[in-house]
Amino acid sequence: MKRILIIGATSAIAEATARLFAGRGDALALAGRDIPQLDRIAGDLKLRGAQDTCTFALDVNDLGQHESIIQQASDRLGGLDIAFIAHGTLGNQSDCEKDFSLALKELNTNAISVMSLLTHLANRMQAQGSGQLAVIGSVAGDRGRPSNYVYGTAKAAVAVFCEGLRARLYRHNVNVLLIKPGFVDTPMTAAFKKGALWVKPDRIAAMIVKAMDRRKEVVYLPPFWALIMLVIRMIPRPVFNRIKL
Ligand SMILES: NC(=O)c1ccc[n+]([C@@H]2O[C@H](COP(=O)([O-])OP(=O)(O)OC[C@H]3O[C@@H](n4cnc5c(N)ncnc54)[C@H](OP(=O)(O)O)[C@@H]3O)[C@@H](O)[C@H]2O)c1
Repeated sequence: MKRILIIGATSAIAEATARLFAGRGDALALAGRDIPQLDRIAGDLKLRGAQDTCTFALDVNDLGQHESIIQQASDRLGGLDIAFIAHGTLGNQSDCEKDFSLALKELNTNAISVMSLLTHLANRMQAQGSGQLAVIGSVAGDRGRPSNYVYGTAKAAVAVFCEGLRARLYRHNVNVLLIKPGFVDTPMTAAFKKGALWVKPDRIAAMIVKAMDRRKEVVYLPPFWALIMLVIRMIPRPVFNRIKL
């Protein structure tokens, strides 16, 4: 039985992953903004076999709450083995170009809040000498594209932060897993036209749990995105500037 804190637990990917944790009897602390929705998810997870569930109201941009929520979740579950950070927003890129305050909001939600949470969680896990931090990044963080470079910037910042944190925590038996999904059919992407590269959250969730079990460090999900992003990263800049991505 693992004691798992999920931040952004109302996310479709997080909920699908939590169902798999519940099925094997893990104890789950769920944090997010939408308490009725968290309570509904907690009830469902209990029915699916979760050993224990509890919910915490958290707007991740309220950085002053982070330490206290982590402490409360740990007290309630009797410690933390895994923290899974899943929240995110995909703001409108062209609005962010016109009004930097919107870009700042995106950067705060997708990068700064994640770094703050990771800092508190890392110090706790380093002290206990065990644990795993899993964060959802994105393939969008691999290269800045005109269509979503504000979101991509946040995800790239999280990737570098995770890389440094992983190396710091390596000698303390704490793993840092960065999950880089491609296109997943969730409320975040509801407005997008779906094609062959799209997958459902259930499929991503199964791969996330497998990556956690194997204490992987960075995973592209589904794995074929590693190849796609390798090609995209290799496109020479003069060509990259001219193609519409
Ligand atoms: N879907 C994709 O194609 C895709 C691809 C790559 C990476 N990702 C990443 O995957 C993660 C999960 O996203 P998803 O696809 O599952 O989308 P989703 O279902 O829309 O989930 C996003 C979650 O983030 C939460 N959130 C946003 N702002 C928050 C805040 N200030 N405080 C607390 N919670 C907040 C939302 O909570 P509310 O319900 O309160 O709004 C929602 O639960 C995100 O990090 C996203 O960037 C998604």
